[in-house]
Amino acid sequence: MRELTVNLGDRSYPICIGQGLIRRAGELFAEKAISRKSPLLIVTDENVADRWLEPLAAALEASGYAAARFIVPAGEKSKSLDMFQNVITACLEAGLDRKSAIVALGGGVVGDLAGYAAASYMRGIRFVQVPTTILAHDSSVGGKVAVNHPLAKNIIGAFHQPELVLYDLDTLLTLPPREVSSGLAEVVKHGLIRDAGFVEWIVGHAGQLLALEPDVLGHALYKGCSVKAEVVSRDERENGLRAILNLGHTIGHALEAVAGYDELRHGEAISIGMIGSAMLGVELGAPLEVYETTKRALESVGLPVALPEHYDTDAVMEAMMHDKKFGEGRMTFIVPTAVGTVEIRNGIEAGMVRAIVERLKREERWT
Ligand code: NAD
Ligand code: GLY
Repeated sequence: MRELTVNLGDRSYPICIGQGLIRRAGELFAEKAISRKSPLLIVTDENVADRWLEPLAAALEASGYAAARFIVPAGEKSKSLDMFQNVITACLEAGLDRKSAIVALGGGVVGDLAGYAAASYMRGIRFVQVPTTILAHDSSVGGKVAVNHPLAKNIIGAFHQPELVLYDLDTLLTLPPREVSSGLAEVVKHGLIRDAGFVEWIVGHAGQLLALEPDVLGHALYKGCSVKAEVVSRDERENGLRAILNLGHTIGHALEAVAGYDELRHGEAISIGMIGSAMLGVELGAPLEVYETTKRALESVGLPVALPEHYDTDAVMEAMMHDKKFGEGRMTFIVPTAVGTVEIRNGIEAGMVRAIVERLKREERWT
């Protein structure tokens, strides 16, 4: 098992990455002093439930925990206020109290939804992340929890750190290929913002990553989590540095909102967004290599790098206006300055962003 820590003083917590960890859940929960006297609620989605809900519940019950279950439909649409209320109802019906914990078993959708419920129920109870997608190496770490509004993604949320991230690599073996690529978008992102050598490593190991080879995947997730943990440890509440984790997200979130949250996978939207950010970076003076390497890395793991023609530019711009990174008529973007380095640029004019969105639709001709 590989282990690293998100350093947040007395709220620090471990990220445990390895095979067979769900079987050891009871022991690992007990090490974090999760109470056996108060019931837990495991929140998961229907795809994950089929394979991993009972093994996790059984491991916890064998260690003396009482674990209620709540299963949501798979997909981004479950990150809604309605579903949030259903999770709260499940907490009440299962008798969760102030010492209870909610356990998020699943990808980023379940993690964000269950985490927001944990942040809100009785004004905040404990929370454990058991991520089951590659993408969730990002979403399970750092304590951003949220649900969506029809007009804007993640606009209803909180910061609420988990007690423990228990990342069992065995769960990833059942991921559909599209989810594997989608999750690797955030792995590439962690390289692009902090570590040029890691970006080259990803390109060199793309085949093994797509084939889910445990050692290679474990290393990639450890590196990705390390970048995230380091950034969150230094700026938990996004007063500055943490914004770099939003590379590609201003455009990406807008695409997800325009698509109605179901056409593009999150990582696919962020992939297109990171190409847009690389274009913007080059426009603002970064070497062309930034764009070329971003594109090569994303394509190597099977991600889209162009915006489908049918996306209406006005609608994408309108969606960006609702983004949390928009203020006072201008936009804030995370812009690469070199491979492995980004900066936060305020005051980007909407006209420049509009030109990038248009250019993304004819991506193959862009140089
Ligand atoms: P997801 O949770 O919808 O999972 C993707 C799909 O894979 C779903 O259909 C799910 O049922 C299925 N699945 C999950 N685990 C599986 C497994 N082991 N085997 C087979 N199928 C499995 O989506 P995601 O891509 O994991 O996460 C995307 C969400 O994460 C978005 O809502 C995004 O906004 C959020 N996010 C949050 C943060 C954060 O910091 N909180 C960061 C990045 C992304
Ligand atoms: N995904 C952006 C963040 O966690 O800050």
